[in-house]
Amino acid sequence: LKLNGTVFLISDADVMEAHGERVAGVLQEAGIAGASYVVPGGEASKSLRVASELYGWLSEQRAERGDTVVALGGGVVGDLAGYVAATYLRGMPFVQLPTSVLAMNDAAIGGKAAVDLPAGKNLVGAFHQPRAVLADIETLATMPHRALLEGFAEVIKHALILDPELLALLEQHAGELTSTDPDPDLLTQVTARSVRLKALVVSSDPQEQGLRATLN
Ligand code: GLY
Repeated sequence: LKLNGTVFLISDADVMEAHGERVAGVLQEAGIAGASYVVPGGEASKSLRVASELYGWLSEQRAERGDTVVALGGGVVGDLAGYVAATYLRGMPFVQLPTSVLAMNDAAIGGKAAVDLPAGKNLVGAFHQPRAVLADIETLATMPHRALLEGFAEVIKHALILDPELLALLEQHAGELTSTDPDPDLLTQVTARSVRLKALVVSSDPQEQGLRATLN
């Protein structure tokens, strides 16, 4: 992955506190200029109001079409940052750094980007494929246990629909995977397999004309 120009990192407060310094250090080491914007955690940030704040920030920073928007966080941050990346300057390069099981396995893959309206979730959005999705299993260590477990619903869903072998693996290791400190190698194995399934489906049907709808 080659990043040109400036990286505009969007995250939420908890994720930024846990992982922001590490990401900033990596960018600095690579000689990549960066700026960051922290939104409040939670679904309420997936709004046109917060998107508009981000547009204001990008314009103050004089972001250009060759710069890159990077989402660091879970599904809310990924959807919001993806929507902003899809629309600001009619589209900017976008990279996803998902930090939750749900985002790694589902939300960060496939280019669905959206904000909510009072009338419903994800009503305004776009398909805007990320240039890359980098999922670091180590970031899951700081997740609340309940949120970690919730994310497995997406993995189980992929397995039930598409992959009996993955389902068998999940059943075999259910105890370990639902423990408070699951083995990172097992998490990596399960995530890699589930992510590959989602990537296969969305690359054959990016705009959800048929096959992709089976995931929903
Ligand atoms: N959540 C399933 C999809 O991205 O289409």
